[in-house]
Amino acid sequence: MASAAPSLLKSSPVLDKSDWVKGQTLRQSSVSVIRCLPTAPSGLTIRAGSYADELVKTAKTIASPGRGILAMDESNATCGKRLASIGLENTEANRQAYRTLLVTVPGLGNHISGAILFEETLYQSTTDGKKMVDVLVEQKIVPGIKVDKGLVPLVGSNDESWCQGLDGLASRSAAYYQQGARFAKWRTVVSIPNGPSALALKEAAWGLARYAAISQDNGLVPIVEPEILLDGEHGIERTFEVAQKVWAEVFFYLAENNVMFEGILLKPSMVTPGAECKDRATPEQVADYTLKLLKRRIPPAVPGIMFLSGGQSEVEATLNLNAMNQGPNPWHVSFSYARALQNTCLKTWGGRPESVKEAQEALLIRAKANSLAQLGKYTGEGESEEAKKGMFVKGYVY
Ligand code: 13P
Repeated sequence: MASAAPSLLKSSPVLDKSDWVKGQTLRQSSVSVIRCLPTAPSGLTIRAGSYADELVKTAKTIASPGRGILAMDESNATCGKRLASIGLENTEANRQAYRTLLVTVPGLGNHISGAILFEETLYQSTTDGKKMVDVLVEQKIVPGIKVDKGLVPLVGSNDESWCQGLDGLASRSAAYYQQGARFAKWRTVVSIPNGPSALALKEAAWGLARYAAISQDNGLVPIVEPEILLDGEHGIERTFEVAQKVWAEVFFYLAENNVMFEGILLKPSMVTPGAECKDRATPEQVADYTLKLLKRRIPPAVPGIMFLSGGQSEVEATLNLNAMNQGPNPWHVSFSYARALQNTCLKTWGGRPESVKEAQEALLIRAKANSLAQLGKYTGEGESEEAKKGMFVKGYVY
């Protein structure tokens, strides 16, 4: 499990700026143009990504046995809602205090391989004045960065949305890499009750593919996240049908954009009934549908499937993940949860300095539980009532 991490650290320019500069030089020289061969009607451009080996290594490190991702990349607005729920103001100091608590959990790296940060946190120090990124690297956790710029209405659709952020993405990504990020996240959403329309699906898939290509070109492993929202009264069959369409389209455009599948990670929604559907599904049913979807749509070249929790309770998300790991899978099947890792931790903290230790233990409990679920060894015993509470929010924005 931890064995892959040191190799990442050794080769990782996080620790050595001169390596980064080397990477840049290589990148430029790797694009070569062969001109005017006698029989060639025009120049033939051969492009080889200089980051290819590093991307594969980063993706494998994140997708290492018994580990998954801590999503702590809530935008300032969303983080504000979290802080408000425990009676705290949405100030930079409070966000810093909370994120310091998260990244400094002793032993977190045994269960967490990557942490997705919001831009503010990538450039921020802990309350003790250490760079958050450095704390993560010391914990053998790969720092990642949310690069999308959020959702806006998709004109001409059925009240659906599209995800902004491609403008200037290449230069932002290069700067994030320099700051220590090694993977990226772009979250777009698909709504079942509102369609999804063919237009919304195409836009979501195309945006993800362009983002993925740009990320790889700048040394960041892209997490591809077309979140199918839980909203709706539909049954699990309908989610399955929509998910197949979504992933067919996403992989069509990923291939068209020459994205290297060995250097990406996916962040799908699990296939579940809509949140307002009366027929609930067992973890075994969720696992059956979700694995059937993945096997039909996801090539084995992809190293890791890192699920989002999407409003499931902490325990539900862990039980579903565990059910998916009862047999061998072609990819590492793991987690990239925000709410399903942080909920009890946040409540336990409540903004009280004297509760930091207890809150850190709460995060470690969830990280360990999901670590076991990644290995298919979670039993669900001894979970608190708080961890069993659902967190679904209608029309959720991240
Ligand atoms: P949740 O696990 O709370 O759904 O968050 C997932 C996410 O998109 C964060 O990256």
